[in-house]
Amino acid sequence: MWTNKMISSKILDYFGLYLKNSHHPPCITISSRKMSQKLNPNPTYDVIILGASGFTGKYVIREALKFLNIPSSPLKSLAIAGRNSSKLSHALQWAARSNPQPQIPILTADTTDPSSLRHLASQAKLILNCVGPFRLYGEPVVKACADSGCDYLDICGEPEFMERMEMKYHDKAVEMGSLIVSACGFDSIPAELGWMFNSRQWLPPAICNRIEGYISLESDKRIVGNLGTYESAVLSVANADKLQELRRSRPKRPRPVISGPPPHKGPMVHHLKEIGLWAVKLPSADATIVRRTLSCLAEAPRGLPGVNESTEQIERKEAFWSSIKPAHFGMKIASKSLLGVVHFIIVGWFIGHFGQTSIGRWLLLNFPSVFSLGYFRTKGPTEDEVASANFKMWFVGHGYSDGNLASQGNRKPDTEIITRVMGPEIGYSTTPIILVQCALVLLKERNNLPKGGVFPPGIVFGPTDLQDRLQQNGISFDVISKNAIN
Ligand SMILES: NC(=O)c1ccc[n+]([C@@H]2O[C@H](COP(=O)([O-])OP(=O)(O)OC[C@H]3O[C@@H](n4cnc5c(N)ncnc54)[C@H](OP(=O)(O)O)[C@@H]3O)[C@@H](O)[C@H]2O)c1
Repeated sequence: MWTNKMISSKILDYFGLYLKNSHHPPCITISSRKMSQKLNPNPTYDVIILGASGFTGKYVIREALKFLNIPSSPLKSLAIAGRNSSKLSHALQWAARSNPQPQIPILTADTTDPSSLRHLASQAKLILNCVGPFRLYGEPVVKACADSGCDYLDICGEPEFMERMEMKYHDKAVEMGSLIVSACGFDSIPAELGWMFNSRQWLPPAICNRIEGYISLESDKRIVGNLGTYESAVLSVANADKLQELRRSRPKRPRPVISGPPPHKGPMVHHLKEIGLWAVKLPSADATIVRRTLSCLAEAPRGLPGVNESTEQIERKEAFWSSIKPAHFGMKIASKSLLGVVHFIIVGWFIGHFGQTSIGRWLLLNFPSVFSLGYFRTKGPTEDEVASANFKMWFVGHGYSDGNLASQGNRKPDTEIITRVMGPEIGYSTTPIILVQCALVLLKERNNLPKGGVFPPGIVFGPTDLQDRLQQNGISFDVISKNAIN
């Protein structure tokens, strides 16, 4: 199933195309070296959830159990793993609610022990990694998967980790047939599928020039995140210079060709009357991940070749990508009140300034509630708080009713299309739903997906049925309005 023979001449065309254009460890590489076999072609488990005892991990178990061994599901065998089997057992009990504890194997693995990770990777088709902060614990897991040919998804939202893993392990993952995709949670699938959904509403001759995403979080109770996410954010900010260094050290990737001029910066805080929200720029992973997907698309405009695709599937995938047009993309966090936005700015200021020094980080990490104004708590949200929260992610697209207008000097966009992705609480409802649905797509459609490599999620899951699956599981995609603008 995974041999060279399966690589069709069409796929080789792609390689030729992109090798001409790129100096970067690219989206679709095939190593000229020999293609290695997976270490274990018949692993015991479809999926192992690593870090299953964590705050997010236990919600991921709960979500995965819904799809275990039901007839339509490709998930037939599941194990959970971590460094403490008694905590894992409690997490399993919690995830099963009052039902009898399911017979799920509990495996031991520690990210400080590479041999335990290699053993884990040799037992699974796919590892779902919930151990974070990823900059501290993620690399050995990625390495074990890349070395053994095991597939890997995670819920990381840390750009430097993702880009470093791409740089270090892409070639190995290609060689071993290990598909490695980070950011398969709220970071950054709603942004990835959301901009693509907006882009697909621009029917020729209309063309999109820019899409701005606006996240708004709502709840009858408090909106609270667990310490793990806060710690990851603090460490990302503290190491922002390393991300810049990493990017400078890498060859430039091809840029997508976008119709029309780039958008003006605009004020730091602004009110968007169309959706009644105040907004400020959000330095999340979303925009960087969308840009990585756009670079992949610039290298491979017809998408990534799958392991063993039918002609029909290739046509479907190419039709999907031809309906997507690159656009400038940014992400903002929004609130109904100006005061809400002021809160976000204060939290951002604390993390941005205190995160620079070790004493500042100590303060941030030891008093999360104080410095996040109550948005993060050491013990995380209660189940009630999770159940009552939800998100809306608005995508405001501006472009031209006719693509020819885009090339007329600095002509302003004349059309606006607003779409929305909406779902339950972001960290512990939406993220597990997305991660588990990505896993099911991967298990079911493995032949249609790239054989191996390290990729952003949009380029891998964009043309699959992931959006439909999310819609069936409580995450909606809607067109809100299409208007001419002055
Ligand atoms: N994409 C998103 O939108 C999204 C949403 C939610 C969370 N996240 C990310 O997910 C990560 C986890 O967050 P969380 O709140 O669940 O954190 P958490 O509650 O602290 O969980 C961390 C997990 O990692 C495990 N772990 C830590 N060190 C380990 C090691 N050396 N070997 C094996 N396992 C180890 C912990 O095991 P023990 O139980 O034994 O301590 C625990 O299971 C964070 O990076 C967060 O940013 C992302």
